Amino acid sequence: MEHYPRWQKNRVLQALASRRVLILEGPRQCGKTTLAKALSAKGSIYRTHR
Ligand SMILES: Nc1ncnc2c1ncn2[C@@H]1O[C@H](COP(=O)(O)OP(=O)(O)O)[C@@H](O)[C@H]1O
Ligand SMILES: [Mg+2]
Repeated sequence: MEHYPRWQKNRVLQALASRRVLILEGPRQCGKTTLAKALSAKGSIYRTHR
């Protein structure tokens, strides 16, 4: 399924260009994980607790 565009996408990418850590905060089910996975660098590893 095609995802809806996220208005913060470019802002997140811009921040990641100069930062090692980015906090993506928001309520449950708003799409944080989906956005993080879509924007993470190729070859990066997804880790989560529990
Ligand atoms: N951009 C999007 N367009 C359509 N559906 C989305 C989008 N982002 C997330 N979803 C859907 O919404 C649900 C919650 O997304 P998820 O990334 O797990 O949220 P969170 O990590 O914030 O709890 C999932 O079913 C996911 O497929
Ligand atoms: Mg999540």
